[in-house]
Amino acid sequence: MQVIVVKDKYQGGKKAFEIIEKIMQEEEVNCVGLATGSTPITLYQEMVNSPLDFSDKVSINLDEYCDLEEDHPQSYHYFMKEHLLNHKAFKESYVPDGMKDKDEAVKEYDAILEKYPIDIQILGIGENGHVGFNEPGTSFDSKTHVADLSDSTIEANSRFFNSNEEVPRTAITMGIKSINDAKAIILIAYGEAKADAIAATVEGPVTEEVPASSLQNHPNVFVIVDEAAASKLQ
Ligand code: GLP
Repeated sequence: MQVIVVKDKYQGGKKAFEIIEKIMQEEEVNCVGLATGSTPITLYQEMVNSPLDFSDKVSINLDEYCDLEEDHPQSYHYFMKEHLLNHKAFKESYVPDGMKDKDEAVKEYDAILEKYPIDIQILGIGENGHVGFNEPGTSFDSKTHVADLSDSTIEANSRFFNSNEEVPRTAITMGIKSINDAKAIILIAYGEAKADAIAATVEGPVTEEVPASSLQNHPNVFVIVDEAAASKLQ
């Protein structure tokens, strides 16, 4: 893992963008894996404001809440349109379908991932070390599945909803194996609340109790953190 400490989220967005640009210059990139949450927003701003062309690339998102309409302001479909896809052309874009039959949605997503192997995967991280919606205890062999959100994730994400009760309890997420199949991974974290998760991810034991620690087994991972998120690293 290559840990890069930046001053703030703006520098972090620039750094992540530079890494993407460099990979695109050096090798063929057909598919970019995208994430939601507040963390990748500054990266998406860099992408939107740059002339770098993604119109021949496919984008595939990590996850989506179950049973939240696509036009709900907190759905990840909505988020992606607002922050990136309405402003930057991609050839095709996929976000899991949380509204349809769950088995069908899961199968469909694994088929999409098989058709379009991810070249670069962007990741945020939960305070408990989750990636996508792979909560602690998720198997490292997991592919796309329906995940139960942990109480701490429901609590953390409730800030975006009117109340804790409104936060969906389940989501469709790419699995840990699906994520680690990406050729390159850029994990981004800002703020003190992420410091424990980052220390456990980068320096802790590789354990299913910390889903992001699986990235220690991946040969090509960049970890972009601000000083607060890096503060518990040795
Ligand atoms: C959600 C998403 C994750 C994201 C996490 C952190 O739970 N499913 O993909 O990494 O939130 O969000 P934030 O970047 O807002 O801290």
